[in-house]
Amino acid sequence: MRTLFKNIKELLQVREAGLDFVAGEAMNDLPTIQDAYLLVEDGLIKDFGTMTDCPKVEVDEVVDATGKMILPTWCDSHTHLVYAGNRESEFVDKIKGLSYHEIAAKGGGILNSAKKLQETSEDDLYEQTKIRLDEIIALGTGAVEIKSGYGLTEASELKMLRVIKRLKENYKLPIKATFLGAHAVPTEYKDDKAGYLNMLVEKLMPKIAEESLAEFVDIFCEEGYFSVEDTEFIMEAGKKLGLISKIHVNQFTSIGGVQAGVKHEALSVDHLEEMKDEDIEALKGSKTMPVALPGCSFFLSIPYTPGRKMIDAGLPLALATDYNPGSSPSGNMNFAVSAACIKMKLTPEEAINAATINGAYAMGLQDTVGSIAVGKEANLILTKPINSYNFIPYSFGENQIESVYIKGHSII
Ligand code: NIG
Ligand code: FE
Repeated sequence: MRTLFKNIKELLQVREAGLDFVAGEAMNDLPTIQDAYLLVEDGLIKDFGTMTDCPKVEVDEVVDATGKMILPTWCDSHTHLVYAGNRESEFVDKIKGLSYHEIAAKGGGILNSAKKLQETSEDDLYEQTKIRLDEIIALGTGAVEIKSGYGLTEASELKMLRVIKRLKENYKLPIKATFLGAHAVPTEYKDDKAGYLNMLVEKLMPKIAEESLAEFVDIFCEEGYFSVEDTEFIMEAGKKLGLISKIHVNQFTSIGGVQAGVKHEALSVDHLEEMKDEDIEALKGSKTMPVALPGCSFFLSIPYTPGRKMIDAGLPLALATDYNPGSSPSGNMNFAVSAACIKMKLTPEEAINAATINGAYAMGLQDTVGSIAVGKEANLILTKPINSYNFIPYSFGENQIESVYIKGHSII
C-alpha cells in the first residue's frame, strides 16, 4: 500500500534517521521542506523531498495537501490514561481553595481514584480508557506512554497493566507501559510504607517483568509520598529486572530526586515544576530527558517548569500531558505545546521539538516515531490550511488538525 502526499505547503521536522533528541540551542531549529511531497509505503515513511523531485511512481492513494502542513504526530511520554470515573467533585473543592495536599488528606486524590478503580471491572476500565485513547489520537497523538498507579493492590495494578496490554494489541500506535505501584501508600499499608515497597519489589515487579506487562517503572518522589531513598530502592530493583525508570520528581518540592534519577540512568525525570540550580546542573551531560507537564501546572495553578532556563542552560526538554483525573484531566498535546510557548516562553520550534522528537526519546521510541525520517512509522498530522506553523501554538484551545494518520492510515 502506497500513499503520496503532494503539494505540502511545509513538511515539518524532517531529520536524518538516527538522531536521538535535540538539546539547548539545537531545540530552536526545526528543519522543514516547503512545497514538499511525502511517500508512505506499508505504513512507513519511504521518501520525501521538494515537489520538483516528486517521484513518478504508482500509488494507491494521493492526498493533495495544498495550503496544509504535515508534521509527525505528537509523542505523549507521560499519561495516566487508565482510570475509573473522574474527580469532578475535587475540582470544585480546589476552586474553593483547597490545595492538592488538603484534598488528598480529605480522602480524595490518588487514593480516591484507587478506590474507584478497584471496584471497576477490567472490561469496564478498558472501555473507559479506549474513549480517552481515541480522543487523544484525534487530537494528534501518535505514540503514548501509559502508567499504572491507581490500583495500589496486586490485583488492581495487574488489572491496569492488562488494560494497557489490550490497548497495545488493539491499536496501531506505539504504546509503552509503566508500572507506578509506588504512586501513593495505600490505606492498608498506611503505617508500613516499607512493607508496601517490599511487596512491590519482591512480588509484583518480578511478575510484571516476567509477563512483560511494563517496559518502565515509576515512583512519585515527593514529600508526603515517597522519599529519595524509596525512589532509589525502586529504581535499583527495576534495573535488575530490566525495567527502565521514568520518575515523578520535583512537582512540589526539590528534594534530590532529579540527582537520584540521573545517578540511576532514568530515561526521564518528569514534572520539575520546582527546580533548583543544582537540579539543572545535575541533568547536564546526562541521557535523562527532563519532561515538563504544563497541563498539570495550568490545572493545579502551580509553577510551570522553567523550560526557558533549562534550554538556555543547554538541556533538552520534552513536553507531555500527564493526562490523569487529579492534576491534568486533559490529554490534549496541542494545549501542552501552546502552554509551553505562552507560559514557559519556548519558541514554537522548541515546543514542537519537545512534543515530537524529544517525547519519542522519553519513551525509548526515537527509532520509530517523532520525526519525518525514512523508515519511521508514518504517524502524521495533516493540518488545516494555515499560514505558518506558529499558528498551531498561537491558536490555543483551537484545533488546527484536519487528519491524523497512524501507520499511513487515516484515523480522522
Ligand atoms: O502526575 N503527581 C503524581 N501523580 C499524578 C497525579 C495523580 C492524581 O492526583 O491522581 C501527576 O500529577
Ligand atoms: Fe503523572
